[in-house]
Amino acid sequence: MPTWNSRFKKGLDEQALNFSSSIEIDGRLFNEDITGSIAHVKMLVKQKIVSSAEGSKIVKTLESIRKEISLGKLKYNWRNEDIHSFIEEELTKRIGTTGKKLHTARSRNDQVALDERLYIKNEILSLKKIITGLQKLLLKIAIKHKETIIPGYTHLQRAQPILFAHHLLAYISIFDRDIDRLNDCLKRADKSPLGAAALSGTTLPIDRNYSAKLLGMKGIIENSLDAVSSRDVVIEFISICSVVMMNLSRLSEELALWSSHEFSFAQIDDSFATGSSLMPQKKNPDIAELVRGKTGRVFGALIGILTVMKSLPLAYNRDMQEDKFHLIEAVDTTKECLQVTAGLLSHTKFNKDRFEKELDGSLLLSTELVDYLVRKKIPFREAHNIVGKLVALAISKKKKLNDITLNDYKKISHEFEKDLYKYLTVKSSIINKISKGSTSFKEVENQVKFWTKKLL
Ligand code: ARG
Repeated sequence: MPTWNSRFKKGLDEQALNFSSSIEIDGRLFNEDITGSIAHVKMLVKQKIVSSAEGSKIVKTLESIRKEISLGKLKYNWRNEDIHSFIEEELTKRIGTTGKKLHTARSRNDQVALDERLYIKNEILSLKKIITGLQKLLLKIAIKHKETIIPGYTHLQRAQPILFAHHLLAYISIFDRDIDRLNDCLKRADKSPLGAAALSGTTLPIDRNYSAKLLGMKGIIENSLDAVSSRDVVIEFISICSVVMMNLSRLSEELALWSSHEFSFAQIDDSFATGSSLMPQKKNPDIAELVRGKTGRVFGALIGILTVMKSLPLAYNRDMQEDKFHLIEAVDTTKECLQVTAGLLSHTKFNKDRFEKELDGSLLLSTELVDYLVRKKIPFREAHNIVGKLVALAISKKKKLNDITLNDYKKISHEFEKDLYKYLTVKSSIINKISKGSTSFKEVENQVKFWTKKLL
């Protein structure tokens, strides 16, 4: 029997109960729920609302319920409306009237809001660890590839040569901002809604700050309506998961491209690739593709929760029960995708010699010639124009830039001298980058040093 039905003449219809039960999802929050209840009851004891003997009995029984659920010994099913009611009912089954005191000055509305915040707090810590793990792995690969040259792309067209380490270090910075966002979200998640009760507070002499302190939270959400009505922290957290997934999806896309025959840059280990049921020769980058695909689930969760919340009047509405579905979907997917990407990366080899020869003297070095002319005081636009003509010449003669004779260079501009050729190697183009954060060996080394200190 539900805890609330004495005013009803009938029990809930089976179909209605099945439809409205959330325990298959919020059962995942049993730990947070019990932690919250223990803090609540300790506060009730301190405030002399329940006796200390009753409080101890409740805490002890809640701890054994926690243990039994986590060992799979205590099971629930869809006939239990939600995890909060299930635990309270179980407590009352075990210790009778004393158990009925736990819910004093509390509602499931502030209870569920607390559970979610505790859950988000834990998941922020765990996500941060997993992201840092991925960053460390990227750094180790970058260190191995401080000399590996690849074409850098814009518009997915070859643009300029860069160091592969530089490319990987970009992802380390990208994921660092995700960690930053999580830290920021933590500040807002770390506030207790407990004691807001159903919506308006309570006439009983509770101490909200005390239960928040017991929970290790940084304070309370002051306004009781806000405390039970708001899910912006859930939304913020899922939006961070979405950004993480968007970043992971880009990396996955690159891994898929790099492992193609056309790129021939990455070799995925057989243990992280799959075959085709029809074409015997195929080796597919399914893991990367699935990460890219599963991004949809997390974006979906974000749109889902935003849609749930968008028209809800204050305070609690049952629609909000759906939030946990989106929250847990986002957490599970993001964590799994981060972990499997680390697995995939550590089972992928990158071909150090794939590009350098091909890029030496190539059109990707055109900008070096523009800078060459700029150093000779030719206005940038004019220099760009001159080199554009050279590019056209190289294309028409099917030549690389370093195969064009000095004579031909001079025909286009008298400023060209023999020394131009020394700017047409990939290595020199890398070395000559002097701006902060560029792809030069020196700057990349600086970045490696920075991240090594921070991560390894
Ligand atoms: N299962 C509910 C949820 O997750 C708990 C809160 C129920 N509150 C209520 N007033 N019916 O939203």
